[in-house]
Parts: sequence; C-alpha cells; structure tokens
Amino acid sequence: MADELRFPEGFIWGAAVSSHQVEGGNLNNQWYAWERRGGIVTGDQCGLACDWWAHAEADFDRLRDLSMNGLRLSLEWSRIEPEEGRWDETALARYRKMLQGLRARGIEPLVTLHHFTNPIWLEEHGAFAHEKVVSLFARYARRCVEALGDLCDFWCTVNEPNIYALQGYLLGSWPPGRKGDAVGMVRVQANLLRAHAAAYQAIHAAQPSARVGIAHHVRIFDPGRPRNPLDRWAAAGQNVAFNPLVVDALRFGRARGPLGLLAGDLRPVRGTYDYVGVNYYSREMIAFDLRRPTELFGRRFVQPGAERMDGGASAAIGETFGEIYPDGMRRVLLRLATLGCPIYVTENGFADADDSRRPSGLVRTLAALHRAMEQGAPVRGYYHWSLLDNFEWAEGWLPRFGLIALDHVTQARTPRPSARLYARICSANALPAALLTEYGAAEAQPA
Ligand code: FCB
Repeated sequence: MADELRFPEGFIWGAAVSSHQVEGGNLNNQWYAWERRGGIVTGDQCGLACDWWAHAEADFDRLRDLSMNGLRLSLEWSRIEPEEGRWDETALARYRKMLQGLRARGIEPLVTLHHFTNPIWLEEHGAFAHEKVVSLFARYARRCVEALGDLCDFWCTVNEPNIYALQGYLLGSWPPGRKGDAVGMVRVQANLLRAHAAAYQAIHAAQPSARVGIAHHVRIFDPGRPRNPLDRWAAAGQNVAFNPLVVDALRFGRARGPLGLLAGDLRPVRGTYDYVGVNYYSREMIAFDLRRPTELFGRRFVQPGAERMDGGASAAIGETFGEIYPDGMRRVLLRLATLGCPIYVTENGFADADDSRRPSGLVRTLAALHRAMEQGAPVRGYYHWSLLDNFEWAEGWLPRFGLIALDHVTQARTPRPSARLYARICSANALPAALLTEYGAAEAQPA
C-alpha cells in the first residue's frame, strides 16, 4: 500500500464561495440586471441563492463539522457602497457578524473584495473599462479594512481578472455583454490589476500586518498533437493571451508583446503581492485551425477519452468545465512558484451533480498538489469550490459544484459522499494511504 501524503502543520483546508453566488437578495449589482435582461442561459433566477445573508451561520457550522479551518468568502461592494460615496453600516455590521461567527468556530476567513460583481452605479460608469475605477476601488478597500480589519488580516483584492475580462468583453456571455472586443478585454484586465495594486497599498496603509493577494485563474492549454508544430504554436498563443498577464504585471510591472501596448502602465502593479491565489479547474486541448483567426487560430477541444466533469453541465456550458485533469494542478503551481511567495489554491472543484467523479478528481488533484510541494511550490492552503451548490453565474443552477447538494427551492442541504471524504483529509491533514490506493493516486503522474 502507498504511504500517506502528509501536509505541513498549519495548512489551511477550506472551501470558497462568493457573495452573489450564496447571499441571495443582491438586487443592486450588474449581475441582477443581467439576469433581468435574460442573460442567464438556463433562465434561472439567483433569488435567495443559498440564503447566506440571513443564515450563513448554519453553513459555518457545517464547515466546522467537516473539519475545515478556512473559508474564502467575498464582500458585496453593492451592499457596502450602494450609492457612490455612501457607506451602508448595516451591511458592514452583517459582515462583521459573519466574520465573528467564523472566528468563534475556529475558521480563518480569507476575504475577497471583488468577485465579479459591481454596484449598478459603477457599472453605469463603465466599471473597469475606465481608469477612474482604480481610486474608487482603493477607497472601498480602505473602508472595508477599517470596518473589518480587527476580524480579518487575510485579503484577496480581485477574483480572476482574466475570466472577468474574457467573458464580459470577448465572449459576451457575461455582463456587460461585449463580443469580440479584444482591446477592451486587455484594458479591463489592466484596470483590474491597477485597482488591485491601489487596493494593496490602501490595505497595507490601514493594516500593516495584512496579507494581500489576488486570485488568478490559470488554465492549461496543450497541443492536440503534441509533436505538431502548428498545434504547438496555436496552444502557445492561447496560453499567452489568457494566462501570463497577471503574473507578468505582478512580477515585472509590465505585459509581454502586443499586450504591453494595450495594457498601459503596469509599473504600479509590480511587487504588490504577499501571496498569490490560484484558481485551477481544467485543461483545454488546442488544434491549429486556419478558419479561426479571431480565436488566434486555435480550436479548443477536450481530449477524446478524457475523464470529464458532468455531462449535463458540460453540454450547456461548452468546454469550460470539461476535462478533469489532476496533473494540471501540479503544473500550474510550479508555474506560479516563480513569483517566490506563498501560494494558496483559492479555488478548485468539479461540476458533478451525482458525485460520481468528484471523489476521484479530488483525491488525485490533491495528490498532484502534494507533488508540486515536493517539487518546490510553497503551497499553504487549499479552498475547495465549493462548500455547497450555488448560483453559477450565466449557467444558473445547472452546474453543481458543492460538497453539499442544495435544493435552492426548499433550501434543503444534503452532503454528497465527497463531503465526508474531504473531511477525512482535512482532519488528518493528510491524504490517507487507503484513499490514494482506492483512487489510483499513488502512481507517479506524467511529468
Ligand atoms: C470560477 C469562479 C467561481 C465559480 C467557479 C466554478 O471561475 O471564480 O465564482 O464560478 O469558477
């Protein structure tokens, strides 16, 4: 039998959620407006979501009972600053209560300031398309730290600048629904990074001991035919367009190649990280395709025969949550290790309503994470996406990412088998040998 894989003392085992996806009743942000305009492909409504605005504490109990010691959650800017310059003390008081509730249960909060949602007043002014957002975001960050800093010193400024910009400006499937605006996509990402940097400074000014980082979504793009030079070229193109801007800005204060011309001055971003967060889900295979110039001549597909996330969800949302590719976790972590700072996996998970693939995906992905640590990646924690099913943006209630199943109509919760499995790992602070053997995770993965 394989040996267990132990994690270092103090490793954070948590789950991740975001405000709009779990709180319910968020009627003052651009996602609610998008929903009203028919932007949710399933026609679903966010409604009460997981009812956290009223009852988050009941799920904090569940988190504790599953032996987790961390929760990544986000603040809803549209609640805290419902109109430009007006702060809602009741909303801040509710967040104080949530953070106190977590602390009382021995759960360390990691608080994200921006997880895709904008207040309507900001959206009406173009949100992250304009540089004015940078000072507005820094002011909001400062207000949050002043109000909550005695309960939290672990901050994530912005979630997934690349996904926000790609979906909203190139694909048009998220608000503001712009299609094919490649220039806008780069500019928005750059403004998100400048906003991050300004918030980083504002948080540190208010709370010198703070640990501040960003959550970066990294995806693997591999050539469909590994030896074919055109496929390799096309895969490299997808990678350059999608992955490195965040890391280049953080590390060097600039963007590479043509992105540099569009992104503007990124020097203030350099060095603005105490840790880096990585959200890793999947890989896409790329074939060179002359008919797709707007997609940089790359056709994306899921490796034939590969294990996939659940069929219903994949059919509706394309390849986004396609392949379950555990070794991608190791590869992504080794890439981010070049930043030379602690790494937290701020999201990773599987759309899998019947929980037939999540257990194996989870064990094998964590084994790959452990291998990355053996190979030098300084990983300090892992937040599973998600504790429970929640409102999955434009796909509504279709993809089911929860360790706990949610019936959003009755609000009934039913733990999936994965919840127990994850609790076993969290409480042992190790991948037990029996699990490694059961899921075939003990053998060496391809390098
Ligand atoms: C990530 C998002 C998160 C959730 C998961 C499934 O890209 O950050 O809110 O939608 O995907």
